[in-house]
Amino acid sequence: MRKHIVAGNWKMNNGLSQTQNLITELKSQTKTSDAEVMIAPAFTNLWNAFESLRQDDIEVIAQNMHFAEDGAYTGEVSAGMLKSIGITTVILGHSERREYFNETDEALAKKVDAVLANGMRTIFCFGEELADRKAGNEEAVVESQIKNALFHLEADAFKSIVLAYEPVWAIGTGETATPEQAQDMHAFIRKTLADKYGAEVADNVSILYGGSVKPGNAQEIFSKPDVDGGLIGGASLKAEDFFAIVNAF
Ligand code: G3P
Repeated sequence: MRKHIVAGNWKMNNGLSQTQNLITELKSQTKTSDAEVMIAPAFTNLWNAFESLRQDDIEVIAQNMHFAEDGAYTGEVSAGMLKSIGITTVILGHSERREYFNETDEALAKKVDAVLANGMRTIFCFGEELADRKAGNEEAVVESQIKNALFHLEADAFKSIVLAYEPVWAIGTGETATPEQAQDMHAFIRKTLADKYGAEVADNVSILYGGSVKPGNAQEIFSKPDVDGGLIGGASLKAEDFFAIVNAF
């Protein structure tokens, strides 16, 4: 049975003291749903966050990593380095990395391979631009992103992969996809997986929605049959809002 997951992508926010303050507030929240809870602080805060939450039901995850094991990659962080501080789940393919850092499907395929080679898990992001949707190409774009980065894998790999559909036009804009738009795309994604790997694999992959999820819209979005949770940006920076979303199942 696939899991409900709510992950907070803090992006490039919070120094050490703000991180400690937010973690203190998160610790005071009560989880009333069956959702797995994750937070993704910036690299500089990962160790402190991991140590602070060792005894709590909140997993600390990374926002990115390089595909190489080590070497001359100034400014980068490897899977092994993340594992050395207890981090075993990594967000990959976020639209902001595709846009600002030119991350290609091919480079992301290498990163996914590195995650799997290290026995880790990834939340793999993808989603169309507004122009793609206006042209009616959203399914073709999403299918291409998924196939180019993931369809070289064997079925078993999907036990370590969580998918995150994040329509770029909904990220940080307040323009949330409607629950119906989210469900339609999630169902398409699941069918695309099933056509390649079979229904059992597809039915067991958690597919998260990301893009302006807030306490006021989370329940309706999460109520859809193929929506298994959310990847949360802005609302994850306030403990009460984040847990209102965690408890929205
Ligand atoms: O990774 C999640 C993020 O892209 C969504 O951001 O602020 O629209 O919830 P936001």
